[in-house]
Amino acid sequence: MFDLHCHMLPGIDDGSVDLEMSLEMARLSVADGVHTLACTPHIYPGLYENTAAGIRAGVDALQAELDSRDIPLRLLVGADVHLEPGLTESIRNGRVPTIGGTRYLLLEPPHHVAPPRFEESVFELMAGGYIPVITHPERLSWIEDHYAIFKRLVDRGVWMQLTAASVAGKFGRRPLYWSERMLDEGCVHILATDAHHPRRRPPILSEGRDAAARRVGEAEAHHMVVTRPQGIVEDIAPEALPPLPWISAPPKSSGGFWKRLIGAQ
Ligand SMILES: [Fe+2]
Repeated sequence: MFDLHCHMLPGIDDGSVDLEMSLEMARLSVADGVHTLACTPHIYPGLYENTAAGIRAGVDALQAELDSRDIPLRLLVGADVHLEPGLTESIRNGRVPTIGGTRYLLLEPPHHVAPPRFEESVFELMAGGYIPVITHPERLSWIEDHYAIFKRLVDRGVWMQLTAASVAGKFGRRPLYWSERMLDEGCVHILATDAHHPRRRPPILSEGRDAAARRVGEAEAHHMVVTRPQGIVEDIAPEALPPLPWISAPPKSSGGFWKRLIGAQ
């Protein structure tokens, strides 16, 4: 599997605090069946002033430590990018990294407030040739009143990443509800761990994959942790990757409508 959202680099944000913890997380990832992992520290102006160059140096150093210990995990550069003015330009000039240098980037919306002009900002990135992958929509408090925004974004080609632990019910009732609803409505492109810690926020992807499979079937769950993330890493155009299915059966009330329609013919 591919885990394209993980705070595994030591001492660079609120994820792993030191090399020992990073190694512990890496071993957990491998044991869970992950072979490729994007290190995606926060880039959050005023709080986590990370840059592509600094993240690249961190990835090279951690990869060397993994290799010297024969831990079979391939690391990629990435970032969990907060929306900021001029983001498209910052990506273009190389200050903000995409996932592994591809057209896809992780975009982290604020947790508690719907940002003004959110859709416009996302579309601006797309107009620049990038494909934003919105991180953990199911955990945002403002999804409750703004779900239509996420549906519109999906319709326009924006990608959605659910947290594996949310799908497995580890973040509680509301994130589970939104995870299941988005899965049922075919609004989920990939799962990732967004791990921050080996025990409190562990890099376990398989539980989310299994929970998703019970909801949407094995094939689609496989797309969420293998086919589509591999497509991201290989920078394949979204049109060439498995399309989102509409998983759920039509709502019950429409059954009567169709029956009436068919009966009227
Ligand atoms: Fe994150």
